[in-house]
Amino acid sequence: MKSDKDITILAIETSCDETAAAVVRNGRTVLSNVISSQIALHTLYGGVVPEIASRKHIEKINIVIKEALDSAGVTLPEIDAIGVTYGPGLVGALLVGVAEAKAISYASNIPLIGVHHIEGHVSANYIEHKELEPPFLCLIVSGGHTHLVIVKEYGEYEIIGRTRDDAAGEAFDKVARAIGLGYPGGPKVDKLAKEGNKNAIVFPRAHIADAPYDFSFSGLKSAVLNYLNTCEMKQEKINRADVAASFQEAVVDALVTKAITAAKDYKLNKIALAGGVASNSALREAMNRGCELNGIKLYYPSPILCTDNGAMIGAAAYYEYLKGTRHGLDLNAVPNLRIGER
Ligand code: KG4
Ligand code: ZN
Repeated sequence: MKSDKDITILAIETSCDETAAAVVRNGRTVLSNVISSQIALHTLYGGVVPEIASRKHIEKINIVIKEALDSAGVTLPEIDAIGVTYGPGLVGALLVGVAEAKAISYASNIPLIGVHHIEGHVSANYIEHKELEPPFLCLIVSGGHTHLVIVKEYGEYEIIGRTRDDAAGEAFDKVARAIGLGYPGGPKVDKLAKEGNKNAIVFPRAHIADAPYDFSFSGLKSAVLNYLNTCEMKQEKINRADVAASFQEAVVDALVTKAITAAKDYKLNKIALAGGVASNSALREAMNRGCELNGIKLYYPSPILCTDNGAMIGAAAYYEYLKGTRHGLDLNAVPNLRIGER
């Protein structure tokens, strides 16, 4: 799917703790991708503080958009559409991006396209893999979501599996906090796990009857907490690297097993990874191995495109643009927006 003329999209993303804007051409060429991260600020509180996130977005949004346009060498009259994340996410954070996009759309008479944040994560794969086209299976693993989705067409999704409780990234963040690594936990667990033995402690893998593609990570999280408490009570020394590696192994094992089973069951020979946890090195390695063994082609974005960014929103907005999706100035933030919903 491609347009006859070049389509240049200004994309805005403020759903959580990154203020981000990008200029993307034809869905796959990134002219600029500016991300102002608030991580250092939220680290002080051990997690994202929604009100602080909103205030920071307000402070940064104009600067970030100007930088995205300037470094792309593009002016507003050259923009064909503005893509903006309108859900899911923190409502106060989403509203900053949505209000900004509406203001630019109104002032400059540029079409507005509301984008689903998770569809953005999926679309991050299109940027570096020019040959990737639907249909494919996508394993979406972020701080708030864990989904197995069939991407049937651009912008057309069928959810075949989801988490019953915690998202994969959430489990990483909670376990990281429990072993004293702080926020954001995922990358820190990933790093520490490299020094540990993944077979040192056997943590449970959840099996959900009648839902072979669903996930559950809260039992695993409790098992890690119990292990830590028991060690403390017995005054045994805790090897944090072994805990990190064994926990990560349990998460990766569940993700890889279910994704590969689903791809085989649905006869899909392409799997894409999406979301912050897709940058996890153990997950990438295990998926590579599993896919190779089963003749499945694996795709994942570079780490900078796995976590929240504007470029992925620009990629998703392009395919919505081609389908004719346009939003009015009544576009609102939808904190619990479901995938595939308009
Ligand atoms: O996709 P994302 O940036 O935000 C959401 O939309 O939720 O994902 C953030 C999540 C956090 O939970 C973070 O700990 C996790 O992704 N994450 C990782 C890694 N890098 C980020 N988890 C495991 N290993 C990593 N290398
Ligand atoms: Zn995200």
